Amino acid sequence: MTRLVPDRATLAEVRREMTGTVAVVMTMGALHDGHRELIRDARGRADHLIVTVFVNPLQFGPTEDFDRYPRTLDADLRICEEEGADAVFAPSREDMYPGGRPQVQVTPGPLGELLEGAYRPGFFTGVLTVVAKLLNVTRPDVTCFGEKDYQQLTLVRQMVTDLSFPVEVVGVPTVREDDGLARSSRNVYLSPAERQAAPGIHAALRSGAALGAKGAAAEEIRERVIGELPAGVDLDYVQVTSPELGPAPTSGPARLLFAGRLGSTRLIDNIPLDIA
Ligand code: PAJ
Repeated sequence: MTRLVPDRATLAEVRREMTGTVAVVMTMGALHDGHRELIRDARGRADHLIVTVFVNPLQFGPTEDFDRYPRTLDADLRICEEEGADAVFAPSREDMYPGGRPQVQVTPGPLGELLEGAYRPGFFTGVLTVVAKLLNVTRPDVTCFGEKDYQQLTLVRQMVTDLSFPVEVVGVPTVREDDGLARSSRNVYLSPAERQAAPGIHAALRSGAALGAKGAAAEEIRERVIGELPAGVDLDYVQVTSPELGPAPTSGPARLLFAGRLGSTRLIDNIPLDIA
């Protein structure tokens, strides 16, 4: 049985009763097969599993979709039940932030200013602050994050290292639709025409990675991807970086990242590549 835990006080009791190791998967709900894979992976890594469901207001900008973000707690609970979670921690905003916006927050440092950080000011401060808080209230041995949000995963690792959180961070590869589109809670916003165009983003990234595998330089890879993006994409960035999000290497493992809008929906994606 999966227990629905509505507040931090109840969570403290539930957590105290967990005697073995604990895995945690943090989400904003509207769970899909990407989340399910994360939950499944985490389930195999510890004796107990807690899934958190909280749409974190701190990480939404004033013009972003906090109010219309999909909220589907009943369906989320069913998925967590099917995947064997012990508890779903789904606190209210007041329970998480009783004094409103917290005064002390986690500063992500330079990595938080790049890529997503450049387009979403304050985003990673909001993410790292809630992740730190959720780590403190759930006290996991291991926590799984998706590679879909590659910069988030990288920054969570950095925070855990820099601030000595006693937890192992595991990265889980991106789960995609059959046509290549990365699963995302925001895909429900896409119109039928946009949905049809969206897999072209992954196709363009793969084409860039294939060029890299033949020895192309980062700038050529970037140009190839930009040239092959589906019509209608309003591009924020295509970047080749090192696996740690530093400058692009001239050879070896690297990361190819995309962000842009299709209509009013902002999409991100990324894939690994190996530059020959
Ligand atoms: P959310 O977007 O709900 O994602 C929760 C977790 O699921 C993240 O680790 C994310 O990378 C992972 N995920 C989402 N789509 C995925 C996919 N297609 N394949 C693999 N993993 C996927 O990310 C957040 O919530 C929030 O920022 C959070 C960390 C919960 C803090 O509020």
